[in-house]
Amino acid sequence: MEAPAPSPVTSPRSIPSFPGRFLTGNLSDFRSNRLKLFRDVKETCGEIGTIRVGPLPMLLVSSGGIAHTILHGHANDVDGGPLVKTFVPLVGERSLVLLHGPQHRKQRKLLAPSFQREQLAHFTQTMVRYTLEAIEGWRDGQELDVHGEMASLTMRIIGKTLFDVDYRHETNELLGAMGLALEHIEYLTSSLVQIPLSWPTPRNKRVRDALHTIDTTFREMIRQRRVDHAQRKDMLSSLVQVRDEEGQPISEDQLHDDLMTIYAGHESTALSLGWTWYLLARHPEVLARVRQEVDTVLGGRPPAFEDLPHLRYTLQVIKESLRLYPVIFMLARAPTRDLDVAGYRLPKGQMILMPPYIIHRDATFFPEPERFDPDRFRPELEKQLPRYAYIPFGAGPHTCIGNHFAMMEKQLIVATMVQRLNVELVDDKELPPEVLTVTLRPAHLAMRVEHRKDASASAVS
Ligand code: HEM
Repeated sequence: MEAPAPSPVTSPRSIPSFPGRFLTGNLSDFRSNRLKLFRDVKETCGEIGTIRVGPLPMLLVSSGGIAHTILHGHANDVDGGPLVKTFVPLVGERSLVLLHGPQHRKQRKLLAPSFQREQLAHFTQTMVRYTLEAIEGWRDGQELDVHGEMASLTMRIIGKTLFDVDYRHETNELLGAMGLALEHIEYLTSSLVQIPLSWPTPRNKRVRDALHTIDTTFREMIRQRRVDHAQRKDMLSSLVQVRDEEGQPISEDQLHDDLMTIYAGHESTALSLGWTWYLLARHPEVLARVRQEVDTVLGGRPPAFEDLPHLRYTLQVIKESLRLYPVIFMLARAPTRDLDVAGYRLPKGQMILMPPYIIHRDATFFPEPERFDPDRFRPELEKQLPRYAYIPFGAGPHTCIGNHFAMMEKQLIVATMVQRLNVELVDDKELPPEVLTVTLRPAHLAMRVEHRKDASASAVS
């Protein structure tokens, strides 16, 4: 009998290397000019290329299709790699961002119902009321530090909606501790040398004190909410009532890590609001269309949950600003086994970076990609986009759990502010994004505000 013909062995497609320095590779650009480096790699290497950050090789994926296959199709064959492990001391080892496979699926299933759009409806009033209070506090002609103002507004909103704390009236100790912990994540992920938190440096001591404050406050809140959840409407009250398939509640340790992760995840909203204001102030014609929509739909009253589907152009503006400035500008994974994707061999353990910032600038799907054009997201055009072309909230099982929360909050804040304020940039220069770890910041963005005299806006009840 004849031996079966050997199956054709196809060797993997080779992955081009991006040129760099002999010892340090692309380290210096990776640290100080990351967006330009990513653009250059795409131009030189195409859909995938290798860069070297010091001794460490990393793959840079510029194709949305390949990124989607890794994040979604191979979700069970990748983890977050070394970058995400830096977060452990802060968010805890049971954090959603660190869990993978069945453990992640189980925890996600328990948390997901609290983040469904309809579940969030009763937070609308808090979001609008706090925005109105912020607006009332601003004087005509005042120059706002946009990021600072949006950060304190969204912080107040998440404090109230997540655990029923109003930072304006209650102790700021938790807020200060959270700020320090988040800042420490930035510090760790941008430092080359990782100093363990146990070392007795002054910074470590401050961070350990902050973590202790967060830990005791969260545990106290969780215990209290197990008793008084019926009287509250915050997200923690619904989380303490969740039961798994065996009828067990989420453990205190797990809830602690979940709160920390949700809170940390929330930070992106303020950054992305900053970019939306930057784009609106630089495009008066777009701002005028938003204003016309807001005035027509709301007729002077504050927005409610039911208004959101009618504020369609406002939503398009928000989507387009997340296209140009996806605040989590790169996603990172490492295969847990050798993978073959689109003919390329992706070796086990190799860091893979997938920047939405680059993927969202694919001219095939977004002609003239640098142009700010909210009409790209008209429903009939948006429907034609493949799922992988636009991923500001990621893809696959780790897709942002707070995406509905974020979109609703942004739509309400933008509509309320446009309804009541005229805004202009203090400085009309182009603003290069400041890159911190995985986020894009609108650094030093100042906006002058003036209360609209033509608005017949009424206060929230
Ligand atoms: C415009 C605002 C936001 C943007 C652009 C954003 C973006 C993202 C992205 C890209 C991921 C996936 C990361 C990855 O796959 O590695 C993510 C995950 C996550 N986000 Fe958001 N986010 C935003 C707002 C929020 C809000 C408001 C919350 C909470 C209320 C939140 C909570 C989370 C959590 C808990 C995860 C981890 C999910 C998991 O690993 O299963 N985010 N976010």
